Amino acid sequence: MQNRIVRPLIFLSLFFSLLFFRAAWAEESDSAKDLAPMSAAQIEKILDEKFAEGKYSRTGADQCLRCHDETSDISAMGIFKNVHGSRQVKGAPFQGLQCEACHGPAGDHVKSRLKDGEPREPMITFGAGSPVPADKQDSVCMSCHQDDERQHWAGGEHDRAGVPCASCHQVHQAHDAVRSRETQAEACGSCHTKQLAQIHQRSSHPLQWGQLLCTDCHNPHGSANQVALKQQTINDNCYSCHAEKRGPFLWEHEPVSENCSTCHNPHGSINKDLLNKRTPQLCQSCHTTAGHPSVPYGEAGEASGKASAFVLGQSCMNCHSQVHGSNHPSGNALQR
Ligand code: HEC
Ligand code: HEC
Ligand code: HEC
Ligand code: HEC
Ligand code: HEC
Ligand code: HEC
Ligand code: HEC
Ligand code: HEC
Ligand code: HEC
Ligand code: HEC
Repeated sequence: MQNRIVRPLIFLSLFFSLLFFRAAWAEESDSAKDLAPMSAAQIEKILDEKFAEGKYSRTGADQCLRCHDETSDISAMGIFKNVHGSRQVKGAPFQGLQCEACHGPAGDHVKSRLKDGEPREPMITFGAGSPVPADKQDSVCMSCHQDDERQHWAGGEHDRAGVPCASCHQVHQAHDAVRSRETQAEACGSCHTKQLAQIHQRSSHPLQWGQLLCTDCHNPHGSANQVALKQQTINDNCYSCHAEKRGPFLWEHEPVSENCSTCHNPHGSINKDLLNKRTPQLCQSCHTTAGHPSVPYGEAGEASGKASAFVLGQSCMNCHSQVHGSNHPSGNALQR
């Protein structure tokens, strides 16, 4: 008789306490989700303190992989497909502090149990979305990569624009798109959309399939020259491949020796030969239309139905074929 009452009571209380625990459990994980995210300033302060105290973990990567192995949503295993995860390469992180060489000292981040509502201590994170300022991220990479290639990084175009190393480089992957021939133009073009469009236009340097690279002309880590060019001037850049345009010429065409990009777009154009404008308009933008030779004579030309040498076919180049300069004794008008 007693059992018939007590047993169900025990079951019931067990049942309710389970329900209660479940609710509490759910509440806890909900509250973990609802934690107010730390401000960037708070995160920076904690990271600085951890560095000052040098709280590196004793077991290195083994410690991290307890939670960041392939079963984790935020797996770190990709690092082992990359040179940075190699134990063989001299100076690589895995010959030293391992994960913490980049992500900073572990400190309390590795705690297995967190108190109710306690946030997990942050680590240094990378990329455009990281709360860690770009220059701090970069100083991690530069601690190993300060060399000739990057001597103009500080103050260069990307540094000034706050583009960190990790928005171009992917170190947790086997394939670094920005460093591979086939994918570089797309990778740079993800930000430089205008240049990406230009290299697909009617006339372009063969960048689309990687015969030519952005980095044949630019140093993405900055240079001492304008627009991060590898050569001192735009013309030196062009001469490095189009040496025949360097001259010297007996009869020079002034804008040519001054700046090739007056007439050409280095990336691509809707006009032939990478020209900024179509001829004859290109030539007419400097040579007045008064008198010869910019306009078709009088009633001649297109209106009369007769082809005018001044505007059709090669236009001005029908006669002035040596537009980049001439070495002919009587080439003063760039005709031969
Ligand atoms: C006890 C489990 C645990 C251990 C051990 C651990 N982590 Fe984490 N780590 C996490 C969790 C959980 C998160 C997500 C935290 C969050 O979103 O608040 C995280 C986040 C991170 C992040 C940030 C990812 C992002 O995109 O925000 C980095 C970087 C990181 N851990 C690196 C490490 C490194 C390096 C180690 C070893 C020194 C390590 N972790 C050890 C549990 C762990
Ligand atoms: C060479 C520096 C470097 C080393 C070494 C390194 N990481 Fe990273 N880690 C990065 C960078 C940079 C990112 C940003 C994402 C990227 O570039 O792919 C990142 C991203 C992460 C993330 C976030 C991943 C995500 O999907 O959100 C975690 C977690 C992480 N690393 C953990 C680790 C662990 C654990 C190790 C060691 C086993 C490690 N990292 C070694 C540089 C490094
Ligand atoms: C502890 C030192 C160390 C740190 C920190 C470090 N690297 Fe490296 N990195 C190396 C070494 C060593 C190599 C291999 C160099 C070689 O092959 O000559 C390398 C190679 C590279 C390469 C060329 C990869 C290849 O396959 O040859 C890139 C790109 C690179 N690192 C970017 C980064 C970025 C971005 C960061 C910061 C997120 C970073 N590194 C942090 C040591 C480091
Ligand atoms: C705008 C994109 C971009 C940024 C930002 C960038 N890199 Fe690079 N990096 C490249 C490209 C592209 C290459 C391949 C260059 C080549 O092959 O001439 C490269 C090559 C490298 C290499 C291997 C070859 C070499 O130059 O030694 C290392 C190491 C490297 N970068 C480190 C860094 C570090 C460190 C930072 C941040 C201070 C950084 N990169 C920022 C695009 C970038
Ligand atoms: C994450 C976005 C991003 C990526 C990826 C990127 N850039 Fe940039 N780049 C910028 C920003 C932002 C600036 C500065 C603002 C501007 O001039 O567009 C800049 C500036 C430049 C400049 C100087 C432009 C000027 O007017 O002085 C050159 C050249 C350049 N980038 C080349 C490259 C090359 C080459 C690559 C690929 C290796 C690349 N960038 C990848 C964002 C990016
Ligand atoms: C053949 C050499 C060459 C190649 C290849 C090249 N550039 Fe340029 N780039 C230049 C020159 C020269 C300028 C300066 C043009 C000027 O100032 O008139 C320039 C200028 C730029 C600028 C500044 C804005 C502008 O258009 O004037 C950016 C950004 C840029 N390049 C990005 C890229 C990217 C991204 C790639 C690869 C898709 C690339 N470049 C490939 C030579 C080159
Ligand atoms: C790294 C080498 C390299 C540099 C630097 C270079 N070019 Fe080129 N250029 C090429 C190649 C390769 C072609 C394609 C040749 C072909 O298709 O036969 C080309 C083609 C051209 C063409 C013809 C395009 C067409 O539609 O046929 C023009 C015009 C040109 N380049 C102008 C320039 C100018 C102006 C500069 C300087 C801003 C420059 N190049 C810098 C390699 C270069
Ligand atoms: C005054 C305008 C102008 C300037 C400045 C100029 N070009 Fe040209 N370029 C042209 C025209 C027009 C064509 C087309 C020629 C034709 O159709 O006969 C051309 C064609 C080319 C070609 C492809 C055909 C060939 O001749 O090989 C190359 C390469 C070239 N230019 C390189 C350069 C270089 C390098 C510079 C700077 C040293 C430069 N150009 C400066 C107007 C110019
Ligand atoms: C950026 C301005 C500019 C553009 C564009 C330009 N030129 Fe010129 N051109 C000049 C200058 C400056 C001179 C030298 C004028 C002088 O010495 O009186 C010159 C000289 C000439 C001469 C020789 C004239 C003489 O008296 O020695 C010819 C022919 C010529 N250009 C044809 C062309 C053709 C054809 C084009 C189009 C493909 C063209 N130019 C585009 C600026 C330009
Ligand atoms: C039918 C051939 C022909 C065509 C087409 C032609 N020119 Fe000329 N151009 C000449 C001759 C001939 C001279 C005079 C040469 C001399 O005096 O030695 C000349 C001279 C010039 C001069 C030197 C200054 C002057 O007025 O004498 C310039 C600048 C010039 N042309 C620009 C152009 C431009 C721009 C075009 C295209 C709109 C063009 N030419 C088309 C034949 C032509």
